Amino acid sequence: MSLRNRSFRVLLIFGICQVGRWGLASASEMEEQPEKIAIIGGGIGGTGAAYFLRQEFGPSVKIDVFEAGTVGGRLATENIRGHDYETGGSIIHPLNLHMKHFVDKLGLSTHDVPTKLAIFDGKKLTFDEGLKSSRMQKWVEGILSKFMRIYQYQQSGYSFSSVEQLLHGLGGDSFLTLINQTLEEVMLADGFSQVFINNVVTPLSRFAFGQTADLTALVGAVSLACADSGQWAVDGGNKRVCSELLSHTKAELIQARVTDISLKMKPSKSGTESSFYEVIYVGDSGPTHSIYDIVIVAAALHEGLSDISFSGFSPPIPSHFPGHYHHLVTTLVMGQVNTSYLGIDQYLADFDVSDIFTTDNEALAFNSLSSVDPTRLPPGYRRPPASESKVWKFFSQEPLSEEQLREIFVSWEGVWEKRWLAYPSYSSSPHPMPPFILHDRLYYLTAIEWAASCMELSVVAARNVALLAYHRYHDQTDKIDREDLHTRLREEL
Ligand SMILES: Cc1cc2nc3c(=O)[nH]c(=O)nc-3n(C[C@H](O)[C@H](O)[C@H](O)COP(=O)(O)OP(=O)(O)OC[C@H]3O[C@@H](n4cnc5c(N)ncnc54)[C@H](O)[C@@H]3O)c2cc1C
Ligand SMILES: *[C@@H]1O[C@H](CO)[C@@H](O)[C@H](O)[C@H]1NC(C)=O
Ligand SMILES: *[C@@H]1O[C@H](CO)[C@@H](O)[C@H](O)[C@H]1NC(C)=O
Repeated sequence: MSLRNRSFRVLLIFGICQVGRWGLASASEMEEQPEKIAIIGGGIGGTGAAYFLRQEFGPSVKIDVFEAGTVGGRLATENIRGHDYETGGSIIHPLNLHMKHFVDKLGLSTHDVPTKLAIFDGKKLTFDEGLKSSRMQKWVEGILSKFMRIYQYQQSGYSFSSVEQLLHGLGGDSFLTLINQTLEEVMLADGFSQVFINNVVTPLSRFAFGQTADLTALVGAVSLACADSGQWAVDGGNKRVCSELLSHTKAELIQARVTDISLKMKPSKSGTESSFYEVIYVGDSGPTHSIYDIVIVAAALHEGLSDISFSGFSPPIPSHFPGHYHHLVTTLVMGQVNTSYLGIDQYLADFDVSDIFTTDNEALAFNSLSSVDPTRLPPGYRRPPASESKVWKFFSQEPLSEEQLREIFVSWEGVWEKRWLAYPSYSSSPHPMPPFILHDRLYYLTAIEWAASCMELSVVAARNVALLAYHRYHDQTDKIDREDLHTRLREEL
């Protein structure tokens, strides 16, 4: 059976009957439920966490989601001439089962994002067969098939106390080496040539993470999976998953910036002291505070992305963890590309490439150039060939100058720019990775991003943190960091 068929079978067994634990909980357990949970960040991680926390803790707990900007976070769209286009996270892999589960559960429709890939070296465009190399696909599948064990673990209620424990649970020591070796090192050791890495692997990693093959191997594998077929996106924009998750879970959205999380003590009924968290936030009506039993931080604790101080904790919790996020500019251009710049005169008529990756070439102003479709495809839509005026999307390190655009386009009607601190700079990966557990009932979901950054991984972390929060609240240590889960669960089947 192919990986895909097998995985869908796993989905059937584990994905569809997602029963909330509270449905099975005893009365005494119900009495001990937390009253209020805060989630900081309304991206796919935070809103996914709201969904899974509701599933674990039941209908009575109050869940507040704080969002300083726009719900969706790095899932965002730009409106051009009446159509929306993705500017951040845009494609979803066919084996991203949590994302698939969400759109099914929420009744959102989706569309395929057909990929026809090419590589540009600054002079000419090649439809490099290497991108479809079956050896590379097998290599990625080997990692993906281990990664997919997470669905079975999570459906059986198991959770992990750190990113390292989670990775170890999926693939043992060999999986851990994927986060302390570079993609290039691992692929060279596995027998791929330097030429193949320069010509095929680097263009893919530049496209997906704006970095060359010196990024860590696990995140590298995620970038290579971008070349797989069957990618999809949500009609109307991927960020709709986030807003729909909020209303589905009846979480309250608080439009405010959290500035401080403090540890406070209160006397409990039994006479001993118990702790709770005070969240200070600034919204339209100035600074306010609220208290919570559990807090989930679903925003990157890094310079320029969040600025939360943690007060009263010992040992202290830093506002910013080691490592930094990578600058990236998304530029949407509606215009007619100069096909001779890309060196493709002869194919002009039916040239309908989707993504053009680039080799590591100093002279090039951009990492990738993609022909993009609107988030809602009009009836009878067909992606226009490159010779027609249409919307293109660039990823680049620096904003594109008018002079650079003039080189690439014959003419254009408009330019829209969005600057991101997009994802971690993986060549500076910290060891150890940031923790999931910041304090007793205070969790850091976005720590996962140092393993790799994509929507699905944020959701994997969301479910892990929800399970972890539940088990730790109820002292169920047997569901945390269990060894040999893979063999254990196979025997249970
Ligand atoms: C250009 C680009 C392209 C990408 N392409 C893909 C792709 O094709 N496929 C894919 O799967 N992934 C892709 N990704 C990655 C994907 O978008 C992210 O991994 C994912 O969206 C992260 O979600 P998150 O919820 O963890 O974080 P975020 O989306 O960053 O959410 C964090 C939220 O927290 C809020 N926040 C921060 N601080 C505070 C505070 N103090 N108080 C209140 N709120 C706060 C922020 O405003 C933000 O909304 C891409 C990312 C970028 C930037
Ligand atoms: C990489 O991680 C593995 C597993 O944790 C460890 O044994 C090895 O020493 C690490 N190597 C480096 C170079 O850090
Ligand atoms: C298109 O690009 C080619 C090659 O870079 C250049 O010679 C030509 O002048 C460009 N055409 C236009 C209309 O800009």
